[in-house]
Amino acid sequence: DLSPIDKAKYVAACRAADLVQDGMRVGLGTGSTAAWLVRRLGERVRGEGLTIKGVPTSTATAQLAREEGIEVISLDQAGWLDLTIDGADEFDGEFNLIKGGGAALLQEKIVATASDQMVVIADAGKEVETLGAFPLPVEVIPFGWQTTRTLIEEALDTMDVLGTSVTLRMNGEAPKVTDEGNHILDLHLKRIGNARQLALVMNQIPGVVENGLFIDICDKVIVGYGDGRVELRD
Ligand code: A5P
Repeated sequence: DLSPIDKAKYVAACRAADLVQDGMRVGLGTGSTAAWLVRRLGERVRGEGLTIKGVPTSTATAQLAREEGIEVISLDQAGWLDLTIDGADEFDGEFNLIKGGGAALLQEKIVATASDQMVVIADAGKEVETLGAFPLPVEVIPFGWQTTRTLIEEALDTMDVLGTSVTLRMNGEAPKVTDEGNHILDLHLKRIGNARQLALVMNQIPGVVENGLFIDICDKVIVGYGDGRVELRD
């Protein structure tokens, strides 16, 4: 009785959960697809006695993992991870990603980078030829964020993108505050011609903490379809 999109997320998450083996330290992503993964891992922990240590990428995932009976440790306690499994907002043919639709991109990127392997789980609708239709999230510190936005807009004028509008992500009437106490600027670029270059340019701007482009980080994508089919791409 799941909708096709939830079914797609669910089957991708279940296939990814099968990659997790006893004793692993696992990075746990954030978002609705990653939530299916955490629930499925919880079933395996409770049902099979699977012993894993989970490093969550947000307070929301930490809470869900604990509710599911998964042992939660910090990244510093883990030191290094065997595997991180996370969702994405877009992925392309080279497994480069846009992430951060759920505002957790900073912890997500740190955790994924500290892993032997990053596996993305996604419904087929997330696949794109060229990244950028989904607005690119950029995490900025609150201090001087409007100046940071201006610097981002100026930088975008020199980049291979189709749009340059930048909006502050809101949570009702107030700016959205991330788990790290920062704000999110959403860059409406439509099409990102050179994602690698854009990622580097963004992170050189004072006030920018991190951007949602994940370049050369993801190793495999597990794609789920609404009819229950699932495809492992690597
Ligand atoms: C969270 O910050 C994001 O990077 C998520 O991984 C992304 O938004 C995917 O979310 P869904 O699985 O809910 O589509």
